[in-house]
Amino acid sequence: MTTIANLANHQVRLAQRPVGTPGRECWSFTTEPVAEPAEGGVLVKTLALSLDPAMRGWMNEGKSYIPPVGIGEVMRAGGIGRVVASKNPQFAVGDTVSAGLGVQEYCLIAGDQVKRAGLFKIDLRAGSMTQWLNVLGMPGMTGYFGLMDVGMPKPGETVVVSGAAGAVGQTVGQLARIKGCRVVGIAGGRAKCDWVVNELGFDACIDYKAGNVKAALKEHAPKGVDIYFDNVGGEILDDVLARIGRGARIIICGAISQYNNTTPVQGPKNYLSLLVNRARMEGIVVFDYADRYHLAVAEMAGYLKDGRMKSKEDIVEGLDNFPEALLKLFSGANFGKLVLKVADA
Ligand SMILES: NC(=O)c1ccc[n+]([C@@H]2O[C@H](COP(=O)([O-])OP(=O)(O)OC[C@H]3O[C@@H](n4cnc5c(N)ncnc54)[C@H](OP(=O)(O)O)[C@@H]3O)[C@@H](O)[C@H]2O)c1
Repeated sequence: MTTIANLANHQVRLAQRPVGTPGRECWSFTTEPVAEPAEGGVLVKTLALSLDPAMRGWMNEGKSYIPPVGIGEVMRAGGIGRVVASKNPQFAVGDTVSAGLGVQEYCLIAGDQVKRAGLFKIDLRAGSMTQWLNVLGMPGMTGYFGLMDVGMPKPGETVVVSGAAGAVGQTVGQLARIKGCRVVGIAGGRAKCDWVVNELGFDACIDYKAGNVKAALKEHAPKGVDIYFDNVGGEILDDVLARIGRGARIIICGAISQYNNTTPVQGPKNYLSLLVNRARMEGIVVFDYADRYHLAVAEMAGYLKDGRMKSKEDIVEGLDNFPEALLKLFSGANFGKLVLKVADA
């Protein structure tokens, strides 16, 4: 019989800080016994983990919106799991939950850490487990609040989103269409561009790997860009800045093209376009909207249900494959929200 006392917890820990692209040498694999929760605590078995570009930033030393992962610590990751033991009246064995579980098979959450870990029960009627890591999860919330609160879209406006086929990008583009905007995606490769146009209903998509983003923007946003949702930074940000219209809003969500740089981050050269166009550029951090997630989830679950929103996930299996799986985000090999499946549901 399996008891908690004879379960083993396999974990992935940060072994060293990367220079450039993080290889396998940055990680160590450990095994620990699993402990019973104390009063108020919960033991969660990890089913699936969210692999995020932000993980690259958390591996760096230095100040950010959240402290870095320490050397030797279990790598930080959000995920979906099942409660396997509980001494907390709000969670029962068998509940499916979302929390900061870390890259490990079991996560013991102490009573006083429940809030900090962001532990909450998920409703599988609203969406599948992987959808709860995608459009109903952190990337979806990022797209929702970035577009709605900072972008403030109006029907008929032109919205451009980079990383269009990724987790945040797919949410932003579909939501902007639902809100009556004209949507132009930017993504790497024909397959991703065709998918966002043919399956998600974007009006157009520019393959930046085919070159000349500037000319393509002129063609697809002839009256100028009203909202640019920036997931990638670098050259593409400059190309869009050159095409913004009067009063444009630029949401700085991320700059994945810069995360593995060994040289300083490339800043925008065309920033004076903000002055000329009375435009603004604003950064967002999704966690600032946590007290309104439930409202966005309810709205997005409605769109999933009525078919106006689709959710594509790219699932890699096995905790041991974490180091290589993470790199898919930076090569663009992921097609949809990148998820690491750790155990069967
Ligand atoms: N501010 C926040 O609170 C917050 C929260 C979540 C995510 N984010 C940011 O949002 C962005 C998207 O995250 P996500 O989770 O949705 O990832 P994702 O888009 O699902 O995956 C990353 C994608 O980035 C693209 N990419 C990689 N290197 C690139 C480069 N050099 N130039 C252009 N595109 C490149 C690739 O797509 P292609 O094949 O199209 O190149 C890749 O598939 C990231 O910058 C992330 O840091 C921010």
